[in-house]
Amino acid sequence: MFWCFQIIRTVALIVLLGLVGFREVKCSRTGKVLESVSSFSYEAINCRKHSASLTDFGGVGDGKTSNTIAFRKAIEYLKQFESDGGSQLIVPPGKWLSGSFNLTSSNFTLFLHKDAIILASQDEGDYPVIPQLPSYGGGRNLSDSRYAPFIFGTNLTDVVITGNNGTIDGQGAPWWDKFSKKELNYGRPFLIEIMYSDQVQISNLTLLNSPNWFVHPVYSSNVLVLSLTILAPVTVSNTDGIDPDSCTNVRIEDCYVVSGDDCIAVKSGWDEYGINFRMPTRHLIIRRMTCISPKSAVIALGSEMSGGIEDVRAEDIVAINSESAVSIKTAPGRGGYVKDIFARRFEMNTMKYVFRMTGAYRSHPDQGFDPKALPVVTRISNSDMVAKNVTMTADLAGIDGDSFTDICFSNVTIELSPKPKEVQWNCTDVVGLTSVVSPPACSLLPDEGKNPCPFPSDKLPIDDIQFQTCSY
Ligand SMILES: *[C@@H]1O[C@H](CO)[C@@H](O)[C@H](O)[C@H]1NC(C)=O
Ligand SMILES: *[C@@H]1O[C@H](CO)[C@@H](O)[C@H](O)[C@H]1NC(C)=O
Ligand SMILES: *[C@@H]1O[C@H](CO)[C@@H](O)[C@H](O)[C@H]1NC(C)=O
Ligand SMILES: *[C@@H]1O[C@H](CO)[C@@H](O)[C@H](O)[C@H]1NC(C)=O
Ligand SMILES: *[C@@H]1O[C@H](CO)[C@@H](O)[C@H](O)[C@H]1NC(C)=O
Ligand SMILES: *[C@@H]1O[C@H](CO)[C@@H](O)[C@H](O)[C@H]1NC(C)=O
Ligand SMILES: *[C@@H]1O[C@H](CO)[C@@H](O)[C@H](O)[C@H]1NC(C)=O
Ligand SMILES: *[C@@H]1O[C@H](CO)[C@@H](O)[C@H](O)[C@H]1NC(C)=O
Ligand SMILES: *[C@@H]1O[C@H](CO)[C@@H](O)[C@H](O)[C@H]1NC(C)=O
Repeated sequence: MFWCFQIIRTVALIVLLGLVGFREVKCSRTGKVLESVSSFSYEAINCRKHSASLTDFGGVGDGKTSNTIAFRKAIEYLKQFESDGGSQLIVPPGKWLSGSFNLTSSNFTLFLHKDAIILASQDEGDYPVIPQLPSYGGGRNLSDSRYAPFIFGTNLTDVVITGNNGTIDGQGAPWWDKFSKKELNYGRPFLIEIMYSDQVQISNLTLLNSPNWFVHPVYSSNVLVLSLTILAPVTVSNTDGIDPDSCTNVRIEDCYVVSGDDCIAVKSGWDEYGINFRMPTRHLIIRRMTCISPKSAVIALGSEMSGGIEDVRAEDIVAINSESAVSIKTAPGRGGYVKDIFARRFEMNTMKYVFRMTGAYRSHPDQGFDPKALPVVTRISNSDMVAKNVTMTADLAGIDGDSFTDICFSNVTIELSPKPKEVQWNCTDVVGLTSVVSPPACSLLPDEGKNPCPFPSDKLPIDDIQFQTCSY
């Protein structure tokens, strides 16, 4: 059925597009490619009425030919179905090189076949220069601009990027190199950024070697990030796995992340820009992650948190060879808050720190920040955690005159490495309590006996999303 529909559609396209890329959209060739992907299924928040393959628009999957135009044309063509059951663009088996492209249609799915690899161009000219994000300080001068994300979508409702573990390879090496040599005029592209959108699903993909952060949902709501494998060299910084940024109702589950930076970094804007933008990240669920992050955190909160971070629930996390588990990073000038953070059931092996909080993360967008804008950090819970081969259990430093309060640790069992730090809990400007922790905590966190830290028992709406099986 799908096949027949494609032929009709292909004929229509030949008429539509004239002879451009004619050889690529011949029926026989399209039919052949589609036969190899003729049956597949995936789970998504919604299935779509209309489909097209990248090959219908002149796509060539040889790993060398640029498919930038094919992606842009396909997406432009499919936009007409936005209010008629929606559409999906299928990326068939092959290696599809492309420059940056935008998802411009609501009710849209980008589907990658399991043997599809989208290769991000390494040519800076393939990335338009766009303004910096408003909550980070932007548009005032050139250095506040950035290269557009590789896959970018803004002002959309119901957008899905999924595959049966197909691959998007950011091919970041030249970007990392130029960045370290300070040869770039603008910020490096994120791999996938979805902005000002509602109902977003990014799932069942392998993401490799992003030039910068991998998955960046920003100013969005109802965001699902599920079953991703994210891999970057552990030596490269800024390759954060997933960065929910000023987003509400987010669920991140079953992802495997190896990164030179944080596996997940929860953010909400930077200093005076984030304070003015006032858009928090809240109601975030993080579950069943595996993280390897030798230089950074499994879950970082901040350092850009000026719009506030609230109601984060992280559970059933495995960390291997990571710098810290849950890490709070902030500083005077940030303003905002980090509150109601709940983490439980972490299993960790080889950690530099387990718990880390710093109120002295001094990096600012410019000199315009207000040093009197102090962040509020309160109600932070960590429970049911085990870690082996740990160098230092907890390095907790609040801000002088702005203590972090209601900090709780319960049922925490830490086995130290052969060469541990002498001081295992170093606490300054923090207020809270502990219950059944070993090694024993600092005097600022007295042992309250058997009194477990709280973890919310209510269910968030993002947990009630129903998936449909879309078959073709
Ligand atoms: C995505 O991958 C997970 C883990 O392999 C699997 O359980 C789930 O069914 C997949 N979803 C699909 C194929 O849509
Ligand atoms: C997307 O589909 C829904 C459900 O059919 C429809 O209500 C909505 O108007 C569509 N969105 C757009 C932008 O057409
Ligand atoms: C994508 O959209 C952004 C903002 O809407 C725009 O600046 C950029 O040029 C677009 N990119 C492409 C490849 O059209
Ligand atoms: C341009 O931006 C940079 C970095 O934010 C800042 O240091 C510099 O002062 C700005 N220059 C002007 C003229 O605004
Ligand atoms: C996108 O949404 C934002 C926030 O609602 C709005 O300010 C902006 O104008 C919208 N952009 C477009 C291109 O519609
Ligand atoms: C997806 O592919 C990656 C990379 O090849 C692999 O490590 C991972 O196990 C695969 N995931 C699934 C669910 O098949
Ligand atoms: C323990 O951690 C150290 C680094 O602190 C590492 O070199 C060593 O391989 C780890 N040992 C085990 C058994 O994982
Ligand atoms: C303490 O944490 C461990 C590891 O998560 C768990 O197996 C155990 O049931 C917890 N004990 C209590 C009393 O909750
Ligand atoms: C404890 O933390 C304080 C404040 O961050 C720092 O100045 C001090 O050097 C730390 N002490 C140890 C033993 O790590």
